[in-house]
Amino acid sequence: MKNNKLQKFADNLTFSNLFQYPFLHREECPMRGRWHSDYFKNDFPIVIEIGCGKGEYTIGLSEKYPNKNFIGIDIKGARLWKGSRYAFENNLNRVAFVRARIDFIEKIFAPEEVSEIWITFPDPQHAKARKRLTSPMFLERYRKILRSSSNNSNNNSSSSNSSSSSSSSSSSNGNNASISSGANINGSRTSINNNACNAHTGKINLKTDDTILYLYTLDDIVLGSGLPLYAYSDDIYANTDESLNDVRAIRTFYEEMWLKMGKKIKYISFGL
Ligand SMILES: C[S@@+](CC[C@H](N)C(=O)[O-])C[C@H]1O[C@@H](n2cnc3c(N)ncnc32)[C@H](O)[C@@H]1O
Repeated sequence: MKNNKLQKFADNLTFSNLFQYPFLHREECPMRGRWHSDYFKNDFPIVIEIGCGKGEYTIGLSEKYPNKNFIGIDIKGARLWKGSRYAFENNLNRVAFVRARIDFIEKIFAPEEVSEIWITFPDPQHAKARKRLTSPMFLERYRKILRSSSNNSNNNSSSSNSSSSSSSSSSSNGNNASISSGANINGSRTSINNNACNAHTGKINLKTDDTILYLYTLDDIVLGSGLPLYAYSDDIYANTDESLNDVRAIRTFYEEMWLKMGKKIKYISFGL
């Protein structure tokens, strides 16, 4: 192991905002059900980013939203070091990071403890749909910790800026999928329900560069299961709808990388 990685692991032990639970299959997370009372010491909603890597999105959102708490989760300590150090040194007390496997997310949070989930540039898992972070197996886990989205004025029906019809098809691995719906802005397919976009409870947001994961989530999972669809875009930088300002404003490490390579960044926001 490289020295600088060892140094980061040593630093991590000194960051009071970093909770390390790499063995949740054997142990309980002591913070479960206690994030508000024991760490944040406020009642603000908790927004989590899963697979947060270096934590750019978690930190970016926390700087934009003073009335929310943010927790980034990743299994890689050397990546978390960057976000944890920044938040620690800048006294960002509405930010925490957890080193754990997302597979055990129900051991990190109690029912209804989380208000919103961001999934940013996850591994698309082309070979195994089951392992995708938007697969039914993972959604079932999120359902157990996420506050109800019943307050959102949500459904697939339109607001003034959204498309009202949606028909799409894809195979279970996302190949050969097509969507024939959505407002066509600059050639991209985008549909936004502004009312639901402004609601921040019970929402799951996916940002990805990967077409297979995007279409799998949109077609097979959200539309296929009749879940409330709040917004989707197959190229967030090709339209100027201000509902997507946040989605565009903060870029993760991988997002910057994919943009430099000319990839289109896709986004879906939905409920459970
Ligand atoms: C492609 S990176 C994206 C990182 C960051 N979101 C970004 O956009 O820069 C995927 C991240 O997910 C994390 N990850 C993948 N599977 C995970 C799991 N089961 N539990 C926790 N983290 C996981 C990896 O460690 C990695 O940091």
